[in-house]
Amino acid sequence: MRIIETIAEMRKLRRQSGLVCLVPTMGSLHQGHRRLIEAAAERGGLTVVSIFVNPLQFGLGEDYDLYPRDLAQDVAASRAAGADVVFAPAVSEIYPPGSEATRIELGPITQVLCGRTRPIHFSGVATVVAKLFHIVEPNFAFFGAKDAQQVAVIRRMVRDLNFDVDLVRVPTVREANGLACSSRNRYLTDQERERAGALRRALTAAQGLYARGERRQAALIAQVSAILKTADITPEYVEVRSWDGLTSLGDTLDESPALLALAAWMGKARLIDNVLLGADREEQAAVRDQSGEGPVARGQSVQRRG
Ligand code: PAF
Repeated sequence: MRIIETIAEMRKLRRQSGLVCLVPTMGSLHQGHRRLIEAAAERGGLTVVSIFVNPLQFGLGEDYDLYPRDLAQDVAASRAAGADVVFAPAVSEIYPPGSEATRIELGPITQVLCGRTRPIHFSGVATVVAKLFHIVEPNFAFFGAKDAQQVAVIRRMVRDLNFDVDLVRVPTVREANGLACSSRNRYLTDQERERAGALRRALTAAQGLYARGERRQAALIAQVSAILKTADITPEYVEVRSWDGLTSLGDTLDESPALLALAAWMGKARLIDNVLLGADREEQAAVRDQSGEGPVARGQSVQRRG
């Protein structure tokens, strides 16, 4: 497996490769990342894992400085999961002096849900992912379903800016009590980690209510809040929105797929999770988001770049 630190070297290798799959990460790799890398490796071609703690997506007072960094461990985990390349550029390589003002802004989709308390976060995510897409030029890029808003924002960017990449949304990997794997779980105490299992229980209870015919948003949200309360968790938000554009929905949901999402602070960790309502695809094998213009047959990107 190769470790690449410069854009020039990454581009050179890209030019020599056919199919390329990219797993963008900020390192601190866990079982969720492992699943993303395995899914990418199964697709075939060159599997590139990018490891870059992106300063642009951290707000003032957030955990940029504290964010766990252990390149040697991440390289070993990437290799074990089947990666061919780790692309680990320095901050100055991705953001040379003078480039700070250039950002991708996507408007309202970045200002709802997590964007309300993290107003610059998704612009920072979109900017670095756009750069990675330009540098690595992947045919497929893999993202975890836990970060539903991130996936929605990147899908919108890919569509609106005509990126030639197919997004693959991979189901969330969970700890034994249902807590979604996240690099930030390491901030939890044992007791918080235990209580955090309530996030998943609350969401699946609401999903069950929905499956039994409940369509009133307020009733679904009340179900989530009641279960969180039993675990002494006060959520930052619990909301139902359209699953792709994250627009608000009527008081009574129709049958189109919807996203039920939440965020909650537990000690030093801000945790997020979600379920899809009205779509039984959630926990199936990787769901492929069609992000190009019109239907594209599987593997067509390979032919384009041959
Ligand atoms: O999900 C993450 O780890 C990051 O937001 C991403 C997509 C790698 C961009 O920095």
